[in-house]
Amino acid sequence: MLRCREPDFCPPAPRPPPRRLGLVETLIRLRRNPLECWSAECFDEPIVNIRLPFADTFLVHHPQAIKRVLMDNAKNYPKDTIQRRILSFGLSDGLLSVEGERWEAQRRSLAPLFARRTVNGFAGAMLAAANDLAMTWAKLGPGAVIDAAAEMTVVTLNVLARTIFSDGIGGDITEFRMAMNAYFGAVGRIGALDLFGAPTFVPRPGHRRLRRTMAYFETVIDRIIELRRLRLADTAERPNDLLTLLLCSLDPATGGRLSLKEVRSNILTFLSAGHETTANTLAWSLFLLSQAPEWRSRVLEEAMRELVDPADDLADRLIVTKAVIEEALRLYPPIAALSRTAIEADTLGDFAVKPRSLIVIAPYVLHRHHRLWSNPAAFDPSRFLPESRGDIPRFAYLPFGVGPRTCIGSSFALQEAAIVLAVLVSRFEMQLLPGAEVWPHQRITLRPAKGLPMAITRRPASSPLPAMA
Ligand code: HEM
Repeated sequence: MLRCREPDFCPPAPRPPPRRLGLVETLIRLRRNPLECWSAECFDEPIVNIRLPFADTFLVHHPQAIKRVLMDNAKNYPKDTIQRRILSFGLSDGLLSVEGERWEAQRRSLAPLFARRTVNGFAGAMLAAANDLAMTWAKLGPGAVIDAAAEMTVVTLNVLARTIFSDGIGGDITEFRMAMNAYFGAVGRIGALDLFGAPTFVPRPGHRRLRRTMAYFETVIDRIIELRRLRLADTAERPNDLLTLLLCSLDPATGGRLSLKEVRSNILTFLSAGHETTANTLAWSLFLLSQAPEWRSRVLEEAMRELVDPADDLADRLIVTKAVIEEALRLYPPIAALSRTAIEADTLGDFAVKPRSLIVIAPYVLHRHHRLWSNPAAFDPSRFLPESRGDIPRFAYLPFGVGPRTCIGSSFALQEAAIVLAVLVSRFEMQLLPGAEVWPHQRITLRPAKGLPMAITRRPASSPLPAMA
């Protein structure tokens, strides 16, 4: 484990191997838990170059070089095939996966869906989903044990269901959730076939099951789209949700609409990109708070004060809650690594980058880099309070990426996480089960390896019930 100064709380993390790993060990760890691959030099050096048989690879954690790859010269660095093949299975026509002009057109069309005003309008749906979970928990007896990590996937899927399809999915939400779990259980393992660029027709373990799951999603979503199209054509009343916005969105440059395939792919993209990421952010926040009584009290006090009046700007007022969430995103960024491939030769720092080189920028490493952060292994949300936030170097904190491909849903996710965390903390005392082993495991997203067993007890009834917006 990484050591840090007492009395700071340093949450669990793999101890970086002191020297670079050999190829076989790298492959083993990539499959087991890619977090274990980062050797000590990655946390000290701005750029590390390693020659792997499948690509000349640059591990880039230098702010200026990151700016060049992800912003200034982003056209030279499209997403690499490994990232697209592994992380975006079945999402080939959605914003996360498309490239070039198709990406530009989709991004223009989808930007209004995640504009600040639109996202603010979803605060009520987020509160309602948090309240649903709180009500379910309230029915459990005092000290009931839950897996908080699994529970967070329930609430984030509920938020997405309410904000994408406000009139429901018209079927069995449990079956839908099980299909989501099957999807996440099967994608995201980094195997040798992918690393060595084996063509897509070479069967990968688990992919047959994935295809069946994708076929199920397509059927369910196509039915929902069809019903909504009929409803929009029939009445002037438009459900206020992402599906309506998707079906009505126009590319401001060309006036073009998204095709049915693109609408379907983007619904799946929002579900997959916004579900586990936000759920894990919440799970890590709950874990960190369970170990930090002072911050727990501060979040509780803020939640009690602000939830009494949940107007649209509620999340803006949850300042301490958001600082805790941002610190959780620093220590355990759900997307632990981003990768790109160089098209043409370029220079990054002192290194000459050849075409086809692989560039890896790992928020997990960047956020714990010794040249960029003081006491990086320690949990300290005050870094993100308004008075000290300005001290964080630019491009040193990238839980949502940066540049043209930055996360389109970042405000949505932060607002959702703040509202859900505040509601749960205000309503329940939550304690990590004694002896529980909490360990970060990277599998598409960074999650607690064995879940998060917590004992929950409802606070006395005098606590305010968060009102509905
Ligand atoms: C805490 C939660 C989240 C985290 C940490 C996160 C992180 C990221 C990151 C790092 C990227 C950039 C990937 C790259 O550059 O290769 C990204 C892209 C994306 N995210 Fe998120 N995300 C979160 C929540 C969401 C939500 C809630 C949605 C939608 C409902 C969403 C939709 C997307 C989409 C569509 C892209 C692709 C954008 C593009 O390529 O233009 N994300 N996300």
